Amino acid sequence: MGLSIQRLADQRNDIDVVSLWRRGDDLSAAIAEADVVIDFSMPEATLEVVARSVGQRKPVVCGVSGLDEVQVAALRGAAESIPVLYDRNMSQGVTVLDATIRQVARSLGGGFNVRIEETHHIHKKDAPSGTALKLGDSLIEAGAATSHDDIDYHSERRGEVPGDHSVIFTSATERLEFSHSVTTRDVFADGALRAAVWLTRQPSGWYSMRDVLFGED
Ligand SMILES: NC(=O)c1ccc[n+]([C@@H]2O[C@H](COP(=O)([O-])OP(=O)(O)OC[C@H]3O[C@@H](n4cnc5c(N)ncnc54)[C@H](OP(=O)(O)O)[C@@H]3O)[C@@H](O)[C@H]2O)c1
Repeated sequence: MGLSIQRLADQRNDIDVVSLWRRGDDLSAAIAEADVVIDFSMPEATLEVVARSVGQRKPVVCGVSGLDEVQVAALRGAAESIPVLYDRNMSQGVTVLDATIRQVARSLGGGFNVRIEETHHIHKKDAPSGTALKLGDSLIEAGAATSHDDIDYHSERRGEVPGDHSVIFTSATERLEFSHSVTTRDVFADGALRAAVWLTRQPSGWYSMRDVLFGED
């Protein structure tokens, strides 16, 4: 992701990558140069990145998947003093899919069974994917399910598939299906860069890609 972000940023004239932080480098020095920090590391590194960003009052875009509840709570705490955008899927298409299924769930009301199917490459270890769980959270918030146990998750690991997700609503009389396919992982870097530019204009707070695409600006 780091390489993808750097390559796509080089193609834009509104972003300069002023520093790249790697394990062992001076994190504070890297952050000092920046207007906004983008973190695509691993959960073990994220809290340190966020704590240093709070110390230097820099906004943070965090795309790290697999954060536990305590780590997410720490990010939310940081959002009281800096702008923090956290999303388990930075793709604009999945953000639109997510908003769509929320609307669909609210419009349909109860009475529909919900299924989330996801297919990823054989190297992916977690299942269901973070994105599938994010979509499931939205179905629960919109009233289509009361818990994740109510949702029929189906995960498939095949070849080098970058990431497919479908959300399917079924009743006794009809079936609706909404799908998204990633064609290149650059999609996540692209979304993170759009989010980073947007976040530099926001006050302290807790944001997601939904705010970037649908929020006031
Ligand atoms: N939200 C989204 O849309 C989205 C999309 C894709 C990926 N992701 C997430 O983004 C992250 C990166 O994905 P990736 O595919 O680029 O993984 P990756 O190729 O394994 O890269 C992870 C990077 O994080 C560094 N890192 C790991 N632990 C660290 C630590 N404790 N301190 C400092 N640096 C550390 C690694 O450095 P070393 O090389 O030194 O190990 C590596 O450069 C993952 O958490 C992934 O789940 C999110």
